[in-house]
Amino acid sequence: MTHFDTVIKSGNVVTPAGTFAGDVGIVGEKIAALGLDLDTSGSKVIDASGHHVIPGVLDVHVHLELPFCGTVSADDYRTGTRAGARGGVTTVIDFAIPPAGGTLDDAADVWMKKAEGKSLIDYTFHICITKFQEQKDQIKGMVERGFTTFKEFMIYESEGWQSDDRALFGTLERMRDYGAMLLVHAESARVLDELISRYHTPELMKRYGARLHAITRPNFVEAEAIQRAVQWCEATGGQLYIVHMSTGEGADTIRAAQARGVPVIAETCVQYLVLDDSVFARDDGHLFACCPQVKKPKDVERLWAGLKHGEVSVISTDTCTFTREQKAMWQGDWTKIPMGMPGLETLLPLTYTRGVLGGRISIEEMCMKLSTNPARIMGLYPRKGAIQVGADADLAIIHPTNTLTVSPSSMETNADWSPYDGWDLAGFSRTTLSRGDVIVDNYKVVGKEGRGRWLPRTTAGLAANRAASMPSTPLRSSDLEQPVKAS
Ligand code: URP
Ligand code: ZN
Ligand code: ZN
Repeated sequence: MTHFDTVIKSGNVVTPAGTFAGDVGIVGEKIAALGLDLDTSGSKVIDASGHHVIPGVLDVHVHLELPFCGTVSADDYRTGTRAGARGGVTTVIDFAIPPAGGTLDDAADVWMKKAEGKSLIDYTFHICITKFQEQKDQIKGMVERGFTTFKEFMIYESEGWQSDDRALFGTLERMRDYGAMLLVHAESARVLDELISRYHTPELMKRYGARLHAITRPNFVEAEAIQRAVQWCEATGGQLYIVHMSTGEGADTIRAAQARGVPVIAETCVQYLVLDDSVFARDDGHLFACCPQVKKPKDVERLWAGLKHGEVSVISTDTCTFTREQKAMWQGDWTKIPMGMPGLETLLPLTYTRGVLGGRISIEEMCMKLSTNPARIMGLYPRKGAIQVGADADLAIIHPTNTLTVSPSSMETNADWSPYDGWDLAGFSRTTLSRGDVIVDNYKVVGKEGRGRWLPRTTAGLAANRAASMPSTPLRSSDLEQPVKAS
């Protein structure tokens, strides 16, 4: 009979094969058995009665300690991953950005140093391509080093990060050739620049304040860029993942493209599901500036529908924390607001409360969007993303209805404010396990910083899905259209 180091007893266990009332047996770092009345002799027993046992969440879009907007985002790998753990997050994927004049390897090295010794949970990085011509020949080496996802920004010229169509096209060709995937921040740079310059006057800034952040980013700024990126995806056959999609128009484009067989995947962030641009009318509306900004109630509805129908595959946070003091750098000029919000700690509670308890998605669908899909798409499945035998024992145990009130003073994030301050949310993690270790106990972080590990990968995107479901089937080149190859 198997001896289990830990048995999670009598929970409502959500697995890809269905949800059942029973136990999870853990040996070492792995899930070793699922069943009824597992033997507990000599085991540590965690009582999950009256609770849901769900797979640990993968937040595949975070920015920890990111130099951005003239400052550095305020959550580092210590506070960011502690915050995540409290919200049931057991894996993060950050974006490694090359230092000025640096290589893609430099980017990975810099981000490894940020994480090592600090991260409470497992992690890896998307590698940002900021100077395509100089960096294009480094992509293959990064895939060989274990990084299978790359990122390009269609905006942020002033940060030195912006990619043009040539870069997008050429990178997608390489994604096709290497079985990797390109993540894209899709906003139309030139139209955005034009709108910002039209409104950047002392009179209009005085009149509209932080509302200018929304006024200068109408939906077509994102919609056009998504269409363009999808066009290059379709033309090249390279796998594309649209990050932080915030518009209904974007969801329509993705749905139509997927129906044509275009290898594009879309992520939204939880703020686009629970907030709308009325927040900018608040006295502290500038705090809510993120990029892209939160949109209209009709976009919120369309994104929830996209999660239900399938064109929106992943919910993440785009965590990029700035304190009130950092946000105060704006001094009435919306173009100077450090853009981003805290999110890791509230991703699961918001999705559970508004999504599952709100009757919009089932708990199984929530686990698909927060855990299983992100793991599959980012090349981490079946090690991560689902409660099944052989997977890492990354788990969150949540009470179905008990709520906690969001209050920055009792949170792990370095933020001294929260977009959700005062909201009553269910779904905070009573117990979080990472590779079998209890890292959150009774809603308190107990895990040791630095225990998190880097996760090398060999696949990503639709290729990863195919590999995960049919391990013996190689990815055939005829699966994708193959136009002229990159030199
Ligand atoms: O406001 C945000 N999202 N800041 C982080 C950078 C980005 O575009 O994801
Ligand atoms: Zn972005
Ligand atoms: Zn981001």
